[in-house]
Amino acid sequence: MKSTAIANSNIALIKYWGKANEELFLPMNSSISMTLDNLQTICTVEFSEDFEKDIVEINNQPANPKTEERIVKHLDLIRRVGKTDLKAKVATNFNFPIGAGLASSASASAALTLAGCSALDLNFDKKQLSILARQGSGSSCRSIYGGYVKWLKANTSEGSYAVQIADENHFDIRDVIAVVSKEEKAVSSRDGMKTTVETSPLYKARLQEVEVSLNKMEKAILDKDFEAIGRLAEADCLSMHATMLTSQPSLIYWEPITVKLMKHVQRWRNDRLSAYFTIDAGPNVHILTLPEDAKEVEARLKEMPEVLEVIHSKPGSDAMITNKHLY
Ligand code: PMV
Repeated sequence: MKSTAIANSNIALIKYWGKANEELFLPMNSSISMTLDNLQTICTVEFSEDFEKDIVEINNQPANPKTEERIVKHLDLIRRVGKTDLKAKVATNFNFPIGAGLASSASASAALTLAGCSALDLNFDKKQLSILARQGSGSSCRSIYGGYVKWLKANTSEGSYAVQIADENHFDIRDVIAVVSKEEKAVSSRDGMKTTVETSPLYKARLQEVEVSLNKMEKAILDKDFEAIGRLAEADCLSMHATMLTSQPSLIYWEPITVKLMKHVQRWRNDRLSAYFTIDAGPNVHILTLPEDAKEVEARLKEMPEVLEVIHSKPGSDAMITNKHLY
């Protein structure tokens, strides 16, 4: 009753920001992402009568109470579908900074779902895994798949899951991430998106715009049209941040270096570098680029003292089971 799974994080190209149903994690809009091969979470889950209570470790340390509560809640869901009340030990390790807007919850919830279901011998297909992962963290339902992925909005839990648009070998684009802060963000995605849906006067307009952008993005991915992917991703990021900025209270996830990098990236395009930015709910900047320009983008970022770390990812693969347990 022990299993280990590896899942990759993902970067949204058309963002999810807002729930239609808080309990079930049903999104206000569909979204599209690319899975990232270099932002990995590995999670070992063991169910056993030997455990009197759930034990939760993150990066080899006991989890903080808030994280533990989230993980136990998700374990409870897995136990409900697996019809067991056995307690479990969950160990989760990350190879990248957590809680800093690098979508650590996406890879974590996908890995926990796959490892937990496998430990209970539940032979779920990817659609069922995606539905379960979604209820741990919305964006994680996209991390069940590799490559380019779309999460479908729906009115029911069974209808809202991720599908693969194209696998990781379809089109090699790079996400070069400028990590400018490793601190836990002050307002979580969960709280932030609730505030935005309830208070931003721009939110309705964004939902209409997203419907059009989703189709364009899907076509751009299938056509391997990097300029269109970059342009649409950058515009969608700015549209999401416009709703954040106009929330009450206002949500400013950017730091001064974030804005500086946004302006640099736009200028780099004049030097014929293929580079577009996208930013999630945090200050770190993801720079989408082509393989031939990735080294140059990386070099330019490394020259900036405010950039603490540069992480370079290709399109990553599906979440998978491994026999290398963490304990
Ligand atoms: O699923 P969450 O709660 O980690 O929210 C993710 C929100 C964004 O990263 C900003 C956008 C997205 O679609 O991943």
